[in-house]
Amino acid sequence: MTRVFMINPEQPEPVVLRIAADALRRGELVAFPTETVYGLGANALDAEAVARIFQAKGRPANDPIIVHIYDLAQLYLIAQRPPAIALQLAQHFWPGALTFVLQRRPLIPANVSAGLETLAVRMPSGVIIRALLKAAQIPIAAPSANTFSRPSATTAAHVLEDLDGRIDFVLDGGAAEMGLESTVLDLTGDVPTVLRPGAITLEDLRAVIPNVAHKQSMVDSDEAASAPGMQIKHYSPRARLMLYQGEREIVLAKMLADARHLQIEGKRVGVLATAEDGETFVASAMVVQELGEAVDLEGIGARLFAALRALDAGAVDVILVRAPAREGLGEAIYDRLLRAAEGKIIRVEH
Ligand code: TXA
Ligand code: MG
Repeated sequence: MTRVFMINPEQPEPVVLRIAADALRRGELVAFPTETVYGLGANALDAEAVARIFQAKGRPANDPIIVHIYDLAQLYLIAQRPPAIALQLAQHFWPGALTFVLQRRPLIPANVSAGLETLAVRMPSGVIIRALLKAAQIPIAAPSANTFSRPSATTAAHVLEDLDGRIDFVLDGGAAEMGLESTVLDLTGDVPTVLRPGAITLEDLRAVIPNVAHKQSMVDSDEAASAPGMQIKHYSPRARLMLYQGEREIVLAKMLADARHLQIEGKRVGVLATAEDGETFVASAMVVQELGEAVDLEGIGARLFAALRALDAGAVDVILVRAPAREGLGEAIYDRLLRAAEGKIIRVEH
Protein backbone atom coordinates (compact mmCIF):
# COMPACT_ATOMS: atom_id res chain seq x y z
CA MET A 1 0.00 0.00 0.00
CA THR A 2 1.22 3.48 -0.86
CA ARG A 3 0.70 6.12 1.80
CA VAL A 4 0.45 9.77 0.77
CA PHE A 5 1.46 12.62 3.08
CA MET A 6 0.89 16.27 2.37
CA ILE A 7 4.01 18.28 3.11
CA ASN A 8 4.57 22.03 3.19
CA PRO A 9 7.00 22.95 0.38
CA GLU A 10 8.31 26.01 2.25
CA GLN A 11 8.45 24.61 5.76
CA PRO A 12 8.30 20.81 5.62
CA GLU A 13 6.70 19.41 8.78
CA PRO A 14 9.39 17.69 10.91
CA VAL A 15 7.02 14.85 11.81
CA VAL A 16 6.45 13.99 8.14
CA LEU A 17 10.18 14.24 7.42
CA ARG A 18 10.86 11.90 10.33
CA ILE A 19 8.44 9.27 9.04
CA ALA A 20 9.87 9.45 5.51
CA ALA A 21 13.50 9.48 6.68
CA ASP A 22 12.93 6.44 8.91
CA ALA A 23 11.21 4.61 6.06
CA LEU A 24 14.20 5.30 3.79
CA ARG A 25 16.61 4.10 6.47
CA ARG A 26 14.57 0.88 6.76
CA GLY A 27 14.99 0.28 3.01
CA GLU A 28 11.56 1.48 1.88
CA LEU A 29 10.74 3.55 -1.21
CA VAL A 30 9.66 7.17 -0.82
CA ALA A 31 8.70 9.57 -3.63
CA PHE A 32 9.22 13.30 -3.05
CA PRO A 33 9.37 16.54 -5.01
CA THR A 34 12.74 18.02 -5.95
CA GLU A 35 13.27 21.37 -7.71
CA THR A 36 13.39 19.47 -11.04
CA VAL A 37 10.86 16.60 -11.01
CA TYR A 38 9.53 14.11 -8.43
CA GLY A 39 12.12 11.51 -7.44
CA LEU A 40 11.62 7.92 -6.28
CA GLY A 41 14.10 7.56 -3.44
CA ALA A 42 15.83 4.69 -1.67
CA ASN A 43 18.80 4.44 0.68
CA ALA A 44 21.77 4.66 -1.71
CA LEU A 45 23.87 2.52 0.65
CA ASP A 46 21.41 -0.38 0.58
CA ALA A 47 21.60 -2.57 -2.54
CA GLU A 48 18.30 -4.31 -1.77
CA ALA A 49 16.44 -1.04 -1.41
CA VAL A 50 17.95 0.15 -4.69
CA ALA A 51 16.87 -3.09 -6.38
CA ARG A 52 13.30 -2.26 -5.34
CA ILE A 53 13.49 1.01 -7.32
CA PHE A 54 14.23 -0.93 -10.51
CA GLN A 55 11.32 -3.28 -9.75
CA ALA A 56 8.81 -0.55 -8.94
CA LYS A 57 9.62 1.44 -12.08
CA GLY A 58 10.08 -1.51 -14.40
CA ARG A 59 13.46 0.06 -15.10
CA PRO A 60 16.06 -2.03 -16.97
CA ALA A 61 19.00 -2.99 -14.74
CA ASN A 62 21.44 -1.32 -17.18
CA ASP A 63 20.07 2.18 -16.48
CA PRO A 64 22.12 3.82 -13.68
CA ILE A 65 20.58 6.02 -10.97
CA ILE A 66 21.55 9.46 -9.62
CA VAL A 67 22.58 9.71 -5.95
CA HIS A 68 21.40 12.81 -4.07
CA ILE A 69 23.57 14.27 -1.33
CA TYR A 70 23.19 16.93 1.35
CA ASP A 71 26.73 18.31 1.52
CA LEU A 72 30.26 18.00 0.12
CA ALA A 73 31.31 15.69 2.96
CA GLN A 74 28.98 13.07 1.48
CA LEU A 75 30.50 13.65 -1.96
CA TYR A 76 33.93 12.57 -0.70
CA LEU A 77 32.44 9.42 0.85
CA ILE A 78 30.84 8.21 -2.34
CA ALA A 79 32.99 9.59 -5.19
CA GLN A 80 36.63 8.78 -5.86
CA ARG A 81 38.88 11.89 -5.98
CA PRO A 82 36.42 14.43 -7.40
CA PRO A 83 38.44 16.52 -9.91
CA ALA A 84 39.03 20.23 -9.24
CA ILE A 85 36.55 21.10 -11.94
CA ALA A 86 33.79 19.28 -10.06
CA LEU A 87 34.43 21.42 -7.01
CA GLN A 88 34.53 24.56 -9.11
CA LEU A 89 31.23 23.68 -10.76
CA ALA A 90 29.71 22.69 -7.41
CA GLN A 91 30.51 26.17 -6.12
CA HIS A 92 28.54 27.71 -8.96
CA PHE A 93 25.65 25.31 -9.35
CA TRP A 94 25.12 23.34 -6.12
CA PRO A 95 22.72 22.96 -4.57
CA GLY A 96 20.97 22.76 -7.92
CA ALA A 97 19.94 20.92 -11.06
CA LEU A 98 23.38 19.75 -12.17
CA THR A 99 24.46 16.09 -11.92
CA PHE A 100 28.11 15.02 -12.18
CA VAL A 101 29.31 11.66 -13.38
CA LEU A 102 32.43 10.81 -11.34
CA GLN A 103 34.30 7.67 -10.28
CA ARG A 104 32.32 5.60 -7.76
CA ARG A 105 33.67 4.56 -4.38
CA PRO A 106 32.73 1.08 -3.12
CA LEU A 107 30.52 2.48 -0.36
CA ILE A 108 27.89 2.85 -3.07
CA PRO A 109 26.63 -0.57 -4.21
CA ALA A 110 27.24 -1.40 -7.86
CA ASN A 111 23.55 -1.73 -8.77
CA VAL A 112 23.05 2.01 -8.19
CA SER A 113 25.33 2.56 -11.18
CA ALA A 114 24.09 -0.43 -13.16
CA GLY A 115 27.46 -2.07 -12.57
CA LEU A 116 29.50 0.85 -13.94
CA GLU A 117 32.63 2.11 -12.17
CA THR A 118 31.15 5.60 -12.31
CA LEU A 119 28.54 7.37 -10.19
CA ALA A 120 26.07 10.12 -10.98
CA VAL A 121 25.63 12.54 -8.07
CA ARG A 122 23.86 15.80 -7.39
CA MET A 123 23.14 18.11 -4.46
CA PRO A 124 19.54 19.19 -5.05
CA SER A 125 18.19 22.58 -3.98
CA GLY A 126 14.53 21.65 -3.43
CA VAL A 127 13.53 22.51 0.15
CA ILE A 128 11.76 19.19 0.79
CA ILE A 129 14.48 16.92 -0.61
CA ARG A 130 17.17 18.88 1.25
CA ALA A 131 15.26 18.57 4.51
CA LEU A 132 14.76 14.86 3.86
CA LEU A 133 18.46 14.31 3.14
CA LYS A 134 19.28 16.11 6.37
CA ALA A 135 16.78 14.10 8.40
CA ALA A 136 17.80 10.75 6.91
CA GLN A 137 21.57 11.34 7.12
CA ILE A 138 22.15 9.02 4.16
CA PRO A 139 22.67 9.64 0.45
CA ILE A 140 19.45 8.95 -1.46
CA ALA A 141 19.39 7.19 -4.82
CA ALA A 142 16.51 8.56 -6.87
CA PRO A 143 15.46 8.33 -10.49
CA SER A 144 12.44 10.28 -11.69
CA ALA A 145 9.27 8.89 -10.07
CA ASN A 146 7.57 7.53 -13.18
CA THR A 147 7.14 4.13 -14.76
CA PHE A 148 10.08 3.44 -17.09
CA SER A 149 9.81 5.27 -20.43
CA ARG A 150 6.78 7.36 -19.33
CA PRO A 151 6.95 11.17 -18.98
CA SER A 152 8.57 12.18 -15.69
CA ALA A 153 6.25 13.01 -12.80
CA THR A 154 5.98 16.67 -11.83
CA THR A 155 3.15 16.24 -9.30
CA ALA A 156 2.22 13.67 -6.65
CA ALA A 157 -0.82 12.74 -8.77
CA HIS A 158 1.52 11.76 -11.63
CA VAL A 159 3.53 9.60 -9.24
CA LEU A 160 0.39 7.79 -8.11
CA GLU A 161 -0.82 7.42 -11.70
CA ASP A 162 2.29 5.28 -12.36
CA LEU A 163 3.38 3.84 -9.03
CA ASP A 164 0.39 3.56 -6.66
CA GLY A 165 0.66 0.29 -4.76
CA ARG A 166 4.26 -0.23 -5.87
CA ILE A 167 6.01 2.15 -3.46
CA ASP A 168 5.68 2.86 0.26
CA PHE A 169 5.25 6.65 0.51
CA VAL A 170 4.58 9.74 -1.53
CA LEU A 171 5.28 13.17 -0.10
CA ASP A 172 2.88 15.57 -1.81
CA GLY A 173 4.54 18.97 -1.77
CA GLY A 174 2.82 20.40 -4.84
CA ALA A 175 4.21 20.74 -8.35
CA ALA A 176 7.96 20.47 -8.92
CA GLU A 177 9.20 23.97 -9.82
CA MET A 178 11.29 23.44 -12.94
CA GLY A 179 9.55 20.41 -14.41
CA LEU A 180 12.65 19.28 -16.35
CA GLU A 181 15.32 16.96 -15.01
CA SER A 182 18.84 17.96 -14.05
CA THR A 183 21.64 18.32 -16.59
CA VAL A 184 23.95 15.28 -16.52
CA LEU A 185 27.61 16.22 -16.97
CA ASP A 186 30.30 13.56 -17.36
CA LEU A 187 33.52 14.62 -15.60
CA THR A 188 35.38 11.31 -15.97
CA GLY A 189 37.05 12.15 -19.31
CA ASP A 190 39.39 14.88 -20.54
CA VAL A 191 36.58 17.12 -21.69
CA PRO A 192 33.50 17.77 -19.51
CA THR A 193 30.62 16.38 -21.55
CA VAL A 194 26.89 16.87 -21.22
CA LEU A 195 25.18 13.48 -21.50
CA ARG A 196 21.67 14.82 -20.94
CA PRO A 197 20.73 18.49 -21.43
CA GLY A 198 18.56 19.69 -18.56
CA ALA A 199 17.51 22.48 -16.26
CA ILE A 200 21.02 24.02 -16.15
CA THR A 201 21.64 25.17 -19.72
CA LEU A 202 24.73 24.66 -21.87
CA GLU A 203 25.12 28.44 -21.91
CA ASP A 204 25.16 28.44 -18.07
CA LEU A 205 27.87 25.78 -18.08
CA ARG A 206 29.93 27.50 -20.77
CA ALA A 207 30.19 30.59 -18.60
CA VAL A 208 32.18 28.52 -16.09
CA ILE A 209 33.79 25.85 -18.31
CA PRO A 210 34.10 27.19 -21.88
CA ASN A 211 35.31 23.81 -23.20
CA VAL A 212 32.17 21.87 -22.24
CA ALA A 213 31.05 19.43 -24.93
CA HIS A 214 27.58 18.11 -25.64
CA LYS A 215 27.30 14.47 -26.57
CA GLN A 216 24.39 14.71 -28.98
CA SER A 217 21.91 12.05 -28.04
CA MET A 218 22.17 9.12 -30.37
CA VAL A 219 18.64 9.87 -31.47
CA ASP A 220 20.19 12.70 -33.49
CA SER A 221 22.81 10.49 -35.04
CA ASP A 222 22.48 6.95 -36.27
CA GLU A 223 24.86 5.70 -33.62
CA ALA A 224 23.63 2.71 -31.63
CA ALA A 225 22.47 3.16 -28.05
CA SER A 226 25.88 3.00 -26.37
CA ALA A 227 25.39 5.14 -23.28
CA PRO A 228 23.34 3.53 -20.53
CA GLY A 229 19.98 5.10 -19.91
CA MET A 230 20.07 7.01 -23.14
CA GLN A 231 17.46 4.80 -24.76
CA ILE A 232 15.63 6.38 -27.64
CA LYS A 233 12.17 5.71 -26.29
CA HIS A 234 11.81 7.81 -23.19
CA TYR A 235 9.50 10.40 -21.71
CA SER A 236 6.82 8.92 -23.92
CA PRO A 237 3.11 9.44 -23.83
CA ARG A 238 1.00 6.45 -24.87
CA ALA A 239 -0.09 8.30 -27.98
CA ARG A 240 2.30 8.49 -30.95
CA LEU A 241 4.15 11.81 -30.93
CA MET A 242 4.94 13.57 -34.21
CA LEU A 243 7.63 16.24 -33.89
CA TYR A 244 7.92 18.89 -36.64
CA GLN A 245 10.80 21.16 -37.44
CA GLY A 246 11.13 24.01 -39.93
CA GLU A 247 9.94 27.53 -40.55
CA ARG A 248 6.98 28.38 -38.33
CA GLU A 249 4.30 29.22 -40.94
CA ILE A 250 5.13 26.25 -43.13
CA VAL A 251 5.25 23.84 -40.20
CA LEU A 252 1.91 25.01 -38.84
CA ALA A 253 0.29 24.57 -42.26
CA LYS A 254 1.74 21.05 -42.54
CA MET A 255 0.60 20.14 -39.03
CA LEU A 256 -2.93 21.30 -39.80
CA ALA A 257 -2.99 19.33 -43.05
CA ASP A 258 -1.64 16.18 -41.35
CA ALA A 259 -4.16 16.59 -38.56
CA ARG A 260 -7.04 16.71 -41.08
CA HIS A 261 -5.80 13.50 -42.72
CA LEU A 262 -5.48 11.75 -39.39
CA GLN A 263 -8.97 12.88 -38.42
CA ILE A 264 -10.37 11.53 -41.69
CA GLU A 265 -8.73 8.21 -40.79
CA GLY A 266 -10.74 8.34 -37.58
CA LYS A 267 -7.84 9.28 -35.30
CA ARG A 268 -8.25 11.50 -32.28
CA VAL A 269 -5.59 14.18 -32.67
CA GLY A 270 -3.94 16.21 -29.94
CA VAL A 271 -1.57 19.12 -30.27
CA LEU A 272 0.97 20.48 -27.86
CA ALA A 273 1.53 24.13 -28.68
CA THR A 274 2.67 27.51 -27.44
CA ALA A 275 -0.09 30.05 -26.83
CA GLU A 276 0.77 31.73 -30.15
CA ASP A 277 0.71 28.50 -32.18
CA GLY A 278 -2.37 27.18 -30.37
CA GLU A 279 -4.64 29.70 -32.16
CA THR A 280 -3.96 27.93 -35.47
CA PHE A 281 -5.72 24.81 -34.20
CA VAL A 282 -8.64 26.29 -32.28
CA ALA A 283 -11.31 25.57 -34.92
CA SER A 284 -9.94 22.14 -35.86
CA ALA A 285 -11.58 19.74 -33.39
CA MET A 286 -8.14 18.84 -32.10
CA VAL A 287 -7.37 18.55 -28.41
CA VAL A 288 -5.06 21.51 -27.80
CA GLN A 289 -2.73 21.56 -24.77
CA GLU A 290 -1.15 24.97 -24.41
CA LEU A 291 2.33 25.29 -22.98
CA GLY A 292 2.35 29.06 -22.52
CA GLU A 293 4.04 31.85 -24.42
CA ALA A 294 6.92 30.94 -26.73
CA VAL A 295 9.34 33.33 -25.00
CA ASP A 296 8.66 31.73 -21.61
CA LEU A 297 10.84 28.63 -21.94
CA GLU A 298 10.83 28.12 -18.17
CA GLY A 299 7.04 27.96 -18.17
CA ILE A 300 7.03 25.62 -21.16
CA GLY A 301 9.58 23.36 -19.47
CA ALA A 302 7.55 23.34 -16.27
CA ARG A 303 4.34 22.34 -18.07
CA LEU A 304 5.76 19.90 -20.65
CA PHE A 305 5.41 16.53 -18.88
CA ALA A 306 2.06 17.42 -17.31
CA ALA A 307 0.76 18.40 -20.76
CA LEU A 308 1.88 15.09 -22.29
CA ARG A 309 0.14 13.22 -19.49
CA ALA A 310 -3.01 15.35 -19.90
CA LEU A 311 -3.18 14.48 -23.61
CA ASP A 312 -2.88 10.80 -22.73
CA ALA A 313 -5.70 11.21 -20.24
CA GLY A 314 -7.71 12.76 -23.08
CA ALA A 315 -7.18 9.50 -24.98
CA VAL A 316 -5.74 11.01 -28.15
CA ASP A 317 -4.09 8.65 -30.66
CA VAL A 318 -1.54 11.11 -32.02
CA ILE A 319 0.13 14.22 -30.62
CA LEU A 320 1.55 16.86 -32.96
CA VAL A 321 4.27 19.22 -31.69
CA ARG A 322 6.43 21.92 -33.28
CA ALA A 323 10.04 21.67 -32.07
CA PRO A 324 11.35 24.64 -30.07
CA ALA A 325 14.55 26.48 -31.00
CA ARG A 326 17.50 24.71 -29.40
CA GLU A 327 18.72 27.60 -27.28
CA GLY A 328 18.83 27.86 -23.51
CA LEU A 329 16.21 25.57 -21.97
CA GLY A 330 14.98 24.89 -25.51
CA GLU A 331 17.76 22.29 -25.81
CA ALA A 332 16.39 20.20 -22.94
CA ILE A 333 12.80 20.61 -24.13
CA TYR A 334 13.85 19.55 -27.64
CA ASP A 335 15.69 16.52 -26.21
CA ARG A 336 12.63 15.32 -24.25
CA LEU A 337 10.33 15.79 -27.23
CA LEU A 338 12.72 14.00 -29.58
CA ARG A 339 12.84 11.01 -27.24
CA ALA A 340 9.07 11.07 -26.80
CA ALA A 341 8.94 10.91 -30.63
CA GLU A 342 11.26 7.89 -30.49
CA GLY A 343 13.98 9.84 -32.28
CA LYS A 344 11.99 10.70 -35.38
CA ILE A 345 11.75 14.27 -36.58
CA ILE A 346 9.63 15.52 -39.46
CA ARG A 347 11.58 18.22 -41.30
CA VAL A 348 9.23 20.45 -43.25
CA GLU A 349 10.63 22.36 -46.21
CA HIS A 350 9.10 24.76 -48.70
O1 TXA B 1 16.48 15.98 -11.99
C1 TXA B 1 16.84 14.80 -11.96
O2 TXA B 1 17.94 14.44 -12.37
C2 TXA B 1 15.87 13.78 -11.37
C3 TXA B 1 15.65 14.12 -9.90
C4 TXA B 1 14.80 13.11 -9.18
O3 TXA B 1 16.89 14.28 -9.29
N1 TXA B 1 16.36 12.45 -11.55
C5 TXA B 1 16.38 11.84 -12.77
O4 TXA B 1 16.85 10.54 -12.73
O5 TXA B 1 16.03 12.38 -13.80
P1 TXA B 1 16.66 9.51 -13.92
O6 TXA B 1 17.06 8.21 -13.38
O7 TXA B 1 15.29 9.63 -14.48
O8 TXA B 1 17.71 9.97 -15.00
C6 TXA B 1 19.09 9.81 -14.67
C7 TXA B 1 19.93 9.97 -15.89
C8 TXA B 1 19.74 8.82 -16.85
O9 TXA B 1 19.76 9.32 -18.18
C9 TXA B 1 20.98 7.96 -16.57
O10 TXA B 1 21.39 7.22 -17.66
C10 TXA B 1 22.02 9.02 -16.22
O11 TXA B 1 21.29 9.99 -15.49
N2 TXA B 1 23.06 8.42 -15.37
C11 TXA B 1 22.95 8.00 -14.11
N3 TXA B 1 24.10 7.46 -13.66
C12 TXA B 1 24.97 7.53 -14.69
C13 TXA B 1 26.33 7.12 -14.87
N4 TXA B 1 26.99 6.53 -13.89
N5 TXA B 1 26.89 7.35 -16.07
C14 TXA B 1 26.21 7.95 -17.06
N6 TXA B 1 24.91 8.36 -16.94
C15 TXA B 1 24.31 8.15 -15.79
MG1 MG C 1 13.81 9.43 -15.72
